[in-house]
Amino acid sequence: MNFELTEEHKMIQQAARDYAQRELIKDVLERDASCEFPTHHVKALSELGFMGMMVDPKYNGGGMDTISYVLAVEELSKIDSSTSVIVSVNNSLVCYEIEEFGTEEQKEKFLKPLATGEKLGAFLLSEPDAGSDATSQRTTAVDMGDHYLVNGTKNWITNANCASIYVVIVQTHPDKGHKGINALIIEKDSPGISLGPHEDKMGMRSSDTHSVMFNDVKVPKENRIGDDGFGFKAAMKTLEGGRIGIAAQALGIAQGAYERALQYAKERKAFGTEIINHQAIGFKLAEMHTRIEAARYFTLKSAWLKDQGKPYGTASAMAKYWAAETAMYVTTEAVQIHGGYGYVKEYHVERLMREAKLTQIYEGTSEIQQIIIARAIMND
Ligand code: CAA
Repeated sequence: MNFELTEEHKMIQQAARDYAQRELIKDVLERDASCEFPTHHVKALSELGFMGMMVDPKYNGGGMDTISYVLAVEELSKIDSSTSVIVSVNNSLVCYEIEEFGTEEQKEKFLKPLATGEKLGAFLLSEPDAGSDATSQRTTAVDMGDHYLVNGTKNWITNANCASIYVVIVQTHPDKGHKGINALIIEKDSPGISLGPHEDKMGMRSSDTHSVMFNDVKVPKENRIGDDGFGFKAAMKTLEGGRIGIAAQALGIAQGAYERALQYAKERKAFGTEIINHQAIGFKLAEMHTRIEAARYFTLKSAWLKDQGKPYGTASAMAKYWAAETAMYVTTEAVQIHGGYGYVKEYHVERLMREAKLTQIYEGTSEIQQIIIARAIMND
């Protein structure tokens, strides 16, 4: 067993760290207040090769492994998860699903511009009545011979407005349950698509979240990913990897809050000494650090399993579960260590706490991860 990162891993980690600490930090507070989409950061991260990190170079991707991706997402998320979620969704949901299950034509047409960041992607699964219960899809895609006619509404869609390529989960044969579900690539400028207003979220406020309405949208048959009825399995497989990205994001949020709390505890004096010298604070920092290290091992292990071609669905559920719970715990403690300063925006930890909450909810709530883990234990 080798816990060392390679020189290449360290270079990628450093590049992401440099960008986050020099550039993302400059306007992260303003964007949290204004909800402005980080267009300039997405452009810069595309130029650095972060939008299609794991895509095969023959489709213009970076050809990197999942461990590199985890390291990059962690570094970006230490500063700004509104931006890291854009990177994460594009890489591990949209690029992955098309590269893994798409046709050569789909890869040429859609994956190539996604991998360079020239175009952005969104993954449309959640609906008003189907978030956790993913088989209950109500958006329909009626087979019209040479095309599908799509109708329905998707909710909570990250990248909904900035993306031009959607991977949309739809029901084609309601009588067949999940075996009737398809995944379609739909271009956002197709006639019949409209967006709800920008969601005024608790955290990750400058990421672009809307509902998306489909009203008689014509989608060519050749845009279906995989065989007829394969859409649910493709989505589940895609989410297994997506959860590694969210685990890395939660890890970054926790690490970012911990580093700020540690620094504060070394500088802030109370009762005649720096507060880190009080056991009440030292024990908190020890607990935070230990939980983060555990989250890091879970996350890197799930990435390593994926890179080795081994099953990683349970490992990524455990990583996402533990990292999200850790992010919530650590950010709450970081606010507490900061006292009143933790409750104002300038010190960043209250924002990190708001961002942490979303990692317990999207790409499967913590309870969904527990279901996946429990089922795996029962089948052992
Ligand atoms: N890989 C491949 N196939 C899978 C699978 C996986 N990981 N998980 C399930 N399946 C297959 C099963 O084998 C089964 O197929 P068969 O009938 O042929 O055996 C079929 O899918 C149905 O599986 P289940 O009976 O287990 O389905 P279920 O209804 O009990 O649900 C679940 C399972 C894990 C809870 C699933 O519904 C789930 O993951 N829900 C959460 C969905 C989610 O993450 N939503 C978030 C939206 S995306 C998002 O947030 C993106 C964003 O914008 C950031």
